[in-house]
Amino acid sequence: QNERDSQFIVSDFAKSHYHRLLLNSEEGMSIGYGYLKERGLNLSTIQTFELGYSLDSWDDLMKAAEKAGYDKKYLEKTGLTVTKTDDQGQDTGRRYDRFRGRVMFPIHNISGRVVGFGARTLKRDDKMAKYLNSPESDIYHKSDVLYGLFQARQAIRTEEVCYLVEGYLDVLSLYQGGIKNVVASSGTSLTEGQIRLIKRYSDNVTVLYDGDAAGIKASLRGTDLLLEGGLNVRVVLFPDGDDPDSYIRKVGDQRFAEYIEKSSQDFITFKTTLVAREASNDPVKKAEAIRDVLHSIAKVPDAIKRQVFLQQTSGTFGIDEQVLITEYNKLVKAPAA
Ligand code: CTP
Ligand code: MN
Ligand code: MN
Ligand code: MN
Ligand code: MN
Repeated sequence: QNERDSQFIVSDFAKSHYHRLLLNSEEGMSIGYGYLKERGLNLSTIQTFELGYSLDSWDDLMKAAEKAGYDKKYLEKTGLTVTKTDDQGQDTGRRYDRFRGRVMFPIHNISGRVVGFGARTLKRDDKMAKYLNSPESDIYHKSDVLYGLFQARQAIRTEEVCYLVEGYLDVLSLYQGGIKNVVASSGTSLTEGQIRLIKRYSDNVTVLYDGDAAGIKASLRGTDLLLEGGLNVRVVLFPDGDDPDSYIRKVGDQRFAEYIEKSSQDFITFKTTLVAREASNDPVKKAEAIRDVLHSIAKVPDAIKRQVFLQQTSGTFGIDEQVLITEYNKLVKAPAA
């Protein structure tokens, strides 16, 4: 049994421990389960994603693991425990549980093994980070994992599209609402590794980011990578202040599905409209906006699609198509579409 196996095994133990606490301990049921119920999640969703609860204690997990015969070394290596350092930064040898009093979201790899955790605080206290996540380890590379992919992968194949959201709760609410082909980037910008993972199952991605300025910016930035990966990218925007989870809770499953259907737009079209609107009629801004869009178009691997996007862009900005293509060719310094 090697190093990585030991880390998988201890992660699996922690997952089962947290899950049991959520459903069978007084604290877990009243605080953890109570919270999830309030957020609209049912038992079936909780089981499917193996959600859990960590007791508000410094050493509950450590003690349970020790009692069950696990080597503390692996708790440390997977980041389930943290070693206290003194003022000089020296290891004191004193350990404590990283996750305390939080709802636990196990992160599965595509074989369904737990590689790490996301953990949400239930306190309103601002000083506390809303989410704590497992650190990188031998089994957990953040950039190679998508939350929910293990549960979503069949649906992504059959639906022929992958919905991409920001957060854990977005995945859970959509899945429960019947949209099972959903994964989360977990708040960070997408990586090439994650894009390769999606491509194993589908060439189509629809990005559903939070309806705030940060969410929209993230969708602009992260999306060029999706284009470079050769994916067909669509976007859906939500009303300001809503994320997919809050929106589906507000309007219900049926209307949510309809909303996605009718308000999804091709990414380049979306970006073109957005930057064109922002530039309005200021010639300098308009020129900048056009170049910005041309840069995105240049990332599209398919020449026919590039051609279509160029036509469309010339229409949106009211720029002669030949002029636009000349500009585009200069920009990519190679014969284009
Ligand atoms: N995130 C994180 N650490 C933070 C904040 C966010 O890792 N301090 C990640 C989490 O994966 C989170 C995602 O970014 O799910 C999106 O963040 P946010 O929109 O702020 O949270 P929600 O998922 O909407 O969570 P909630 O609805 O519970 O507020
Ligand atoms: Mn890696
Ligand atoms: Mn957000
Ligand atoms: Mn949310
Ligand atoms: Mn959110």
